Amino acid sequence: MNWDGHVAVVTGAGSGIGQGIAECFAEAGAEVVLAEVNPLRGQAVAADLQDRFGKGLFIQTDVSKAADCKAMVDYAVKTYGRLDTLVNNAGVNFVKPTLEMDEADWDRVVNVDLKGTFLCSRYALEVMAQQRSGAIVNIASVHTVATLSEAAPYAAAKGGVAMLTRALAIEIAPLGIRVNAVSPGLTDTQIWQDIQNAAENVEEARQHWFDNIPMRRVQSSREVGNVVLFLASDQSSYMTGANIMTDGGMTAQLINRARYASKPLEGKVNR
Ligand SMILES: NC(=O)c1ccc[n+]([C@@H]2O[C@H](COP(=O)([O-])OP(=O)(O)OC[C@H]3O[C@@H](n4cnc5c(N)ncnc54)[C@H](O)[C@@H]3O)[C@@H](O)[C@H]2O)c1
Repeated sequence: MNWDGHVAVVTGAGSGIGQGIAECFAEAGAEVVLAEVNPLRGQAVAADLQDRFGKGLFIQTDVSKAADCKAMVDYAVKTYGRLDTLVNNAGVNFVKPTLEMDEADWDRVVNVDLKGTFLCSRYALEVMAQQRSGAIVNIASVHTVATLSEAAPYAAAKGGVAMLTRALAIEIAPLGIRVNAVSPGLTDTQIWQDIQNAAENVEEARQHWFDNIPMRRVQSSREVGNVVLFLASDQSSYMTGANIMTDGGMTAQLINRARYASKPLEGKVNR
């Protein structure tokens, strides 16, 4: 695929997965707008991509605010004259028992992860509808399939993103616009660093997580980015409404049989 002249907007591009996605677009030769709430992070990543690939412009954007989302789309169109791909990546999570949660906790997560995905899509679709072309890629999560305890707003928001993906996909398909989701499993970002930093025994903690990942490793942000580029490209021209897992097999596995349940089941035939 020739990415010359392709214009992509990536939200939350100032770190982690969003940074990896933006890097994949820039390296491929696309123009990329980095929409990020944290100006220091956004500017730093844009400067790095400019240095290495001559691509990457930063615009400060809080995806939970409609005016910011509209300004983000306007900026891309004013600068490059079009918008080919929107990647809704910005997301936040925190773990807290439901009985200790208040309204603000819920809003903090749902307003960024779910409402932000809707708002950015809403304004991007206005431009894409006029163009009669475009792709939206939503970064959802393995939490669209199964979840952890004490993560209710995140699970609800990401489940919402999976259904929003389908709802927009079927509504907008006649205009030649595709909407898909990518659901990462554990990725080598700040959260993985935090998990290891918090562990009393780092190696034990790593092995505990790897027991739940058949490929026994975390993925890089660029491994998510590669799937995003596939969904943004003509290589996926008949795909819309999909939710692709990039999780090393995590959601395919019920339980790690080798470790917990191997012997009693071996050689047994159900009658
Ligand atoms: N890291 C993982 O293992 C993992 C797994 C599954 C899904 N995800 C999803 O991938 C996405 C990126 O996660 P990450 O781990 O790279 O997170 P991260 O915290 O490293 O990066 C998220 C970026 O989004 C920015 N951001 C936060 N709120 C914003 C807002 N309101 N508007 C614009 N930008 C905002 C942050 O400043 C940050 O730069 C999220 O949607 C997350 O839910 C991550």
